[in-house]
Amino acid sequence: MTKILLSPSMMCADFSNLEREITNLENAGIDIFHIDFMDGHFVPNFGMGLQDFEYIRSATNKLVDVHLMIQNPGEYVEMFAELGADIIYIHPEADIHAARTLDKIRENGKKTGIAINPGTSLESVKELFTLIDYLMIMTVNPGFSGQTYLDYVDSKIEKSVKFANEYGFKIMVDGAVSEEKILELSEIGVEGFVLGTSTLFGKEDDYKTILKNVQKQVRMNN
Ligand code: DX5
Ligand code: ZN
Repeated sequence: MTKILLSPSMMCADFSNLEREITNLENAGIDIFHIDFMDGHFVPNFGMGLQDFEYIRSATNKLVDVHLMIQNPGEYVEMFAELGADIIYIHPEADIHAARTLDKIRENGKKTGIAINPGTSLESVKELFTLIDYLMIMTVNPGFSGQTYLDYVDSKIEKSVKFANEYGFKIMVDGAVSEEKILELSEIGVEGFVLGTSTLFGKEDDYKTILKNVQKQVRMNN
């Protein structure tokens, strides 16, 4: 990859001035705003609220995704589509009828994604590959920012590149993504990265400096 997709994890943003955060992230060249939803069941935490999503949606023309870390995500596809999500990620682990839900997302005119936990194999979700636009591989157990990158997921990421080429979906990686990991994984064909506290938020440098530097290093690396 010579140009990667940068996706800020908005639960890590500064909520005391969300408008400024969105502007600064746009000016820094981000591609997709990443919005985490949690239900306290599928993951032991609560994520962002619908109001947060609605505000971000109204404030930007960039792509906005929703990462649904919730049980039975199929029940909420129409709602998120109506609210203006461009990409809807479901966890197949949380949906008995993941294939039906992915069909429903496409029927609603939105891009489909599956996000898979560190312990979920590619083989167990392979039949869904014709139905997805994005495969999001979790490199932490979902639910919290600021965790440690799980190295054992790397072999799954490597294997996923072959499937991405065969089926034509994009690979995204979510969880404790560092600059080092971005360089390493973009080199083997990972297209996009969710950026939270490990790379982007709460750093001394501003977003533009950080992201220009990341894109430059990726270019030089390829
Ligand atoms: C959960 C989130 C996190 C997180 C990413 O799905 O998307 O993985 O905020 O940022 P880190 O792990 O770098 O804080
Ligand atoms: Zn996420």
